[in-house]
Amino acid sequence: MNQNELKQAVARAAIKYVVEDALVGVGTGSTADFFIDELAKMKNRIDGAVASSEKTATRLKSHGIRVVDLNSVDELPVYVDGADEITEHLAMIKGGGGALTREKIVAAVARKFICIADESKLVPVLGNFPLPVEVIPMARSHVGRQMVRLGGTPILRDGFTTDNGNLIIDVAGLTILDPVELEEAINNITGVVSVGLFAKRGADVLLLGTAGGVRTLTRTSRG
Ligand code: A5P
Repeated sequence: MNQNELKQAVARAAIKYVVEDALVGVGTGSTADFFIDELAKMKNRIDGAVASSEKTATRLKSHGIRVVDLNSVDELPVYVDGADEITEHLAMIKGGGGALTREKIVAAVARKFICIADESKLVPVLGNFPLPVEVIPMARSHVGRQMVRLGGTPILRDGFTTDNGNLIIDVAGLTILDPVELEEAINNITGVVSVGLFAKRGADVLLLGTAGGVRTLTRTSRG
């Protein structure tokens, strides 16, 4: 199976977590795109979707799936999204596509986070993938200096503006041994909108696409 087939397999496996007649939160990226295509096949059995980016909203709508503003939502049983890196403890780096802030917001509302990923995303320690940090434009140099103090090498994502009108700094060279602590530390830097570490609120379930089939890891089975 090639990488796209693995992504498609986990996207298909995630459908069984979608609650009928309810809303579903939908992430951003190539794996999430496969999930949207699978979701389209059951669109008449869901109430609609909450999108984590403009790109995802456009794809959902192109399939005729109703997109609902998060502010009008009380209950969101499930959020399905990919990851750039994930550990067996279900802590993640996300934001390779630049949608980390909205992804984090939708994930915060959802009762359950289902991560879908091919096996290349499973790592023992986070940090090989540069950590995305969304910043207010006037704070980019300040935040960059703070990233150097934390041991990273900040690189401004060239020519990229987030859906929220902000910038992304990708921080290379970090070996993230304590993702919860680093997430808190970066969140506390003035000018940071959000950091692509999803550790305090990690995934609840990981559906991992492997050559041998889809593996399911849950919070209770971790460690
Ligand atoms: C988008 O901002 C990201 O968080 C994506 O969820 C993540 O980068 C995974 O993307 P792929 O499924 O394309 O690898």
